[in-house]
This record gives sequence, C-alpha cells and structure tokens, in this order.
Amino acid sequence: MRILVTGGAGFIGSHFVRRLLVAGEDVVVLDKLTYAGNPANLPDGVELIEGDIALAEDVNSVGRFDAVVNFAAETHVDRSILGPDEFVRTDVTGTLVLLQAADEQGARYVQVSTDEVYGDIEPGAASKEDDPLRPSSPYSASKAGGDLQVLAAVRTYGVNASITRGSNTYGPNQYPEKILPLFVTNALDGAPLPLYGDGRQVRDWLHVDDHCAGVELVLREGRPGEIYNVAANEEHENVELTELILDATGADRGLIQHVEDRAGHDRRYSLDTSKLRALGWSSTRNWNEGVRATAEWYRANRAWWEPIKRSGGFRDYYERQYARRLAAT
Ligand code: NAD
Ligand code: TYD
Repeated sequence: MRILVTGGAGFIGSHFVRRLLVAGEDVVVLDKLTYAGNPANLPDGVELIEGDIALAEDVNSVGRFDAVVNFAAETHVDRSILGPDEFVRTDVTGTLVLLQAADEQGARYVQVSTDEVYGDIEPGAASKEDDPLRPSSPYSASKAGGDLQVLAAVRTYGVNASITRGSNTYGPNQYPEKILPLFVTNALDGAPLPLYGDGRQVRDWLHVDDHCAGVELVLREGRPGEIYNVAANEEHENVELTELILDATGADRGLIQHVEDRAGHDRRYSLDTSKLRALGWSSTRNWNEGVRATAEWYRANRAWWEPIKRSGGFRDYYERQYARRLAAT
C-alpha cells in the first residue's frame, strides 16, 4: 500500500513513518517544513516532498496514494494565541484540500486530531467521542474545524475517513516548545522552568509509540465516520511532571519558576478510550519510565536540539513568550 503521511517530518508523524516502514509499507511524506518540520527526524531514503497541504497543486504533486494519514498541523497552543491565522489555514483549509484529494483518489483517510477539541473537563469525568466540541484556544478551535470537515466529507461525499483524538504525547524528537522537551532541555542547561499559574493543570500523558500504534490500528480497522480517542489514562499535574523531570535530569528544584498563566488555559483533559480498546489497542509504556527514557534521549542527543534552541527563530519566540512572564516573578 502506498501511504501518504502529511507532516511526517514533525514529531509524531516521523515516528509513524518509521512504524509503517517496519510494517513494509511504501511511504511518501508531504511536509511544508515549517519551524517544526525537520528532515533529520526521518530515516534515510524516505521519499520527502516539500509542500503545503493547503495547496491542491502541492498535494496533487504526490501522485497516486492508497491512504493518507494527516499529521500536518500548526500544533502549539501558545503560538496560536500569538497568531491564529496560520492555524486556520493549515488545520482547517489544509484538511479540506486533503479530503478532496482523498475523495478523487478513492483513498482511505485518517485525521490525527486531539483531546483538546472537547475543551477541559471536570475532575472524575472523561470525554467520549460523541461529546460536544468546546475548544478553548485558537489551536483547538482550528483542529475542531478540521474534524468537522472530515465528518462532512464522509457524510456528503462518502470519503472513507476516520478521526483519532490523541492526548498529550511525549517521546524523542518533540520540538522543544512543548512542556516536556522545553523543561528537560532547560533543566539540562540549568535554565528556569516556567510553570504556568499554579501548575496544577492535569494532562493525560501518552507515549509517542502508543499514539502511533493507535493511529495505525484506526488506519487499518477503523470505520468510516467514526472517531477514536487515544490515551493511556496517565493523568498527572504539571507540577508532578516537573518534579519527575528534575529527578530524571538531576537538576535543582530552584529552577522552577511559577509564571503568569496561559490565557484561556484548560484545567484538565481526560479521555474515555473504551472504543479503541475494543478494537484491540492498549498502551504499553509506563509514564514514569517513559518520561525518564525521553529525558535520557534529550541528554544523549544534544546535537538534535541545541541547533534548534540556538536558532534565531527559536530565541525570538522564547523571548516573546517568556521574557515578560519570567521578569514578573
Ligand atoms: P509537530 O508540530 O511536531 O509537526 C507538525 C508537522 O506538520 C511539521 O513537520 C510541519 O512542518 C508540518 N506542517 C505544518 N504545516 C504544514 C502544511 N501547511 N503543510 C504540510 N506540512 C505542514 O506536531 P506533532 O506534535 O507531531 O503533531 C502531529 C499531529 O498530531 C497534529 O495534527 C496534532 O494536532 C496532533 N496531536 C498532537 C499531540 C501532541 O501532544 N503533540 C497530541 C494529540 C494530537
Ligand atoms: P503544552 O506542552 O504546550 O501542551 P498543551 O497546551 O497542548 O496541553 O502544555 C502542557 C501543559 O504545560 C499545559 O497545561 C501548559 C503547561 N506549560 C507550562 O506550565 N509551562 C510551559 O512553558 C509550557 C510550554 C506549558
């Protein structure tokens, strides 16, 4: 099967590409190579086309494919607060353009979405696939818009598409703007760890290998028009994650700095995963061990992240995001 992986040069997409290669599939990657896209994430020899999912001519340049798995997105909540336009363009319009290509080719389609489309949820409850969408940030609103385009394409045009909604994912090769790689690399450099608000927000952590296994299962066995939550039910407060990172890196507790909270910050995510488990999926990675192994990966792979953190683009972003927050504490 020739499988198009969009956003395959990013964090989760690149792990998914490796997984498909092990399964003996023929893989082609379409990636715009934004700040988050990195060809070095991909194994040698993978066919990589530089292009934009929101441009039909770029998508058509891929030629024939039997299936498409759409990881391509603008993905960072804090960046979406600074500038939402690109999120709508890629996450909504890009999804629509890909759906049209899948329809023309009669290809299977999987949309990789997020638990954030449900908005936050009170303690004790878990979001189910048919819950209403109540996104809080420009990022999650754009992802919700993409999901709705998928459901409309199934119903109106009969596209063979399914949606996965994964929870906060961690592992090697994650761009160091998200909390886990940012805090690990800052800790390794003795730099402050800027914890938003009271740090008691809860995220449901999922190892990238388990996330990719869930997406692959949905690609092969998911039903058209169906949505599948993916999560390991490993719920932890950000303070707990921060303590584990300090322990794993041997850094000083004094590096923690409570800073101004994120606007519109979701308090807690939690997913009901019984539907995917009924297909045969279960998580394999323990959170404590997985976070420690990921911290070790960053310790051993400075050559991967140091050039990113030293680049002008990253430093400008970091200044914009954190200078005021850190100075105020
Ligand atoms: P990432 O930011 O690491 O990678 C995104 C990739 O998409 C990059 O390679 C980038 O160059 C590419 N891209 C961006 N705009 C593009 C465009 N217009 N055309 C083609 N390529 C483009 O993201 P990630 O963390 O690997 O997330 C992948 C997918 O998984 C996203 O759809 C995201 O919403 C979803 N997701 C992520 C998480 C998480 O915790 N990281 C959790 C649940 C769902
Ligand atoms: P993040 O990794 O940005 O993922 P998401 O917002 O998609 O869940 O953030 C995870 C949690 O960590 C979220 O509650 C915000 C918090 N956070 C901080 O406290 N400090 C930071 O510097 C970052 C990037 C995030």
